[in-house]
Amino acid sequence: MNSKERQIIEGLKVVCKCKNIKQRDFLKHIKAGVATIEELKKATGAGSGTCKGKGCTPRIAELLNNRALTRVSTINYTYNY
Ligand code: FES
Repeated sequence: MNSKERQIIEGLKVVCKCKNIKQRDFLKHIKAGVATIEELKKATGAGSGTCKGKGCTPRIAELLNNRALTRVSTINYTYNY
């Protein structure tokens, strides 16, 4: 499996099960600059299902943390001399 295929499969993972909102929907907003859990919930509709965000909030936080770590590692790589 190549990285593009892996990316597509990851994007299909459901983050908010109550509303059936997939990872790719969150990543689209994160790439556009959305940077907080509350903003992501507002942009996607996540957190408004029957569990009121108990299920998806930790997964949204993980997506944001992973994105932040990616940015840090990119910065370290870029400025590593
Ligand atoms: S999993 Fe997102 S509101 Fe329940």
